[in-house]
Amino acid sequence: MARPLPPAATAALACVGALLLACSAAPPSRAGAAPGAPPPWERDNPVRALPTPPLGSPADFAAVPWVTPQKVRLGRWLFFDARLSADGTVSCASCHEPDHAFSELEPVSTGIRGQKGSRKAPPILNAAWPVYPVFFWDGRAASLAEQAKGPMVNPIEMGNTHENVVATVAAVAGYRPYFAEAFGDPGVDIDRIAEAIAAYEATRLSGNAAADRFDAGDASALSPAARRGRELFFGRAACNQCHLGPGYSDGKFHNLGVGWKGHARGSPPELGFADPGRFKVTRNPEDMGAFKTPTLRDCTKRAPFMHDGSSRTLREVMELYFRGGEENPWLSEKIRRVGFGRGEIDDLIAFMEALDGEGWQDEAPRAFPR
Ligand code: HEC
Ligand code: HEC
Repeated sequence: MARPLPPAATAALACVGALLLACSAAPPSRAGAAPGAPPPWERDNPVRALPTPPLGSPADFAAVPWVTPQKVRLGRWLFFDARLSADGTVSCASCHEPDHAFSELEPVSTGIRGQKGSRKAPPILNAAWPVYPVFFWDGRAASLAEQAKGPMVNPIEMGNTHENVVATVAAVAGYRPYFAEAFGDPGVDIDRIAEAIAAYEATRLSGNAAADRFDAGDASALSPAARRGRELFFGRAACNQCHLGPGYSDGKFHNLGVGWKGHARGSPPELGFADPGRFKVTRNPEDMGAFKTPTLRDCTKRAPFMHDGSSRTLREVMELYFRGGEENPWLSEKIRRVGFGRGEIDDLIAFMEALDGEGWQDEAPRAFPR
């Protein structure tokens, strides 16, 4: 779990620093540092140039001019800062762990006071360049920054109020210079907090996977099994009806029957879904049990799979497709029994493994503004 140092420990470090360096002349916002020296929390979080997008990533920073190196630096602290939650225990990174492509190895997430949600935390990869601006499994948020405000006030995630998040961050003197650096003045509001977090998320890229190198002409990048898997994926199995483009997602919503429990005779069929998915947002019957196509990049890093984490392994996902999804009244017409031959599931898995990329790897900052 990527959690910041407990407040007591970082505060203690800052105090020791202040004593050793006798920094009585330091401005209040830079408490803990020698005059002129950067505060200790800046050491492993300098302003960095925006990353060069890796091969195959849809990233294009020219298209998102609001993403600046200064906002990214500020957002990196905020993303990992548990002080944004009601009881100071949960940060964005508690569920979006850097070691797991900013997803986690749990079927559903755990928020403050150990409360369990009902959906799997998706990865955050190439997130600022979606096919359509729809975030969450049901697409209910329309931008990354809007999305970021959700979990802070979700009672079972970070359980806070926006007023309290703003008050908490504004009370940390050490944050002020970075708001000024990123936004022109030290004012703190929820939109700035969300935008800085979104800017950091925008720099979590994924590309230069073996499949990308193969697409760029390096025939040796894929093993024979992965090549057979790729042919199936774009051919007979037609996975690319939905997993397409650089993110391997069409950004649309489909019913695969995941979470279908069947329904009792006489009861409304929609009660057969534990989670109605996109239907909850649109109230359109066609969207019953439909969820956003997830990216397949780095899927080896984040089992279990699906919106409810119900497939424990990639093999179980492939077996679901082999069966033609879970039969239910709203099953997507694009899902049909493929009838994989011997070894073909292994080939598809080999191709999934060839989608492991780079550009998102990071770790929690070691120290936070005080
Ligand atoms: C308690 C666990 C938890 C915390 C804390 C949390 N998230 Fe999430 N996140 C989730 C889950 C679960 C989903 C999927 C929820 C849904 O679709 O309804 C999600 C969805 C997302 C998505 C949408 C991804 C996509 O592909 O649509 C983004 C982006 C995201 N979270 C960013 C954040 C940020 C930023 C924070 C901190 C402000 C945060 N999350 C805090 C669990 C968490
Ligand atoms: C009709 C559109 C569609 C087709 C065709 C399709 N998928 Fe999917 N795929 C989805 C959706 C939607 C989900 C998430 C479903 C859910 O959680 O309810 C998903 C989930 C997955 C996951 C789990 C990813 C994760 O992060 O949880 C993998 C792996 C996957 N698909 C691979 C494939 C492969 C391989 C094929 C071809 C055999 C395929 N898909 C065909 C739409 C599709």
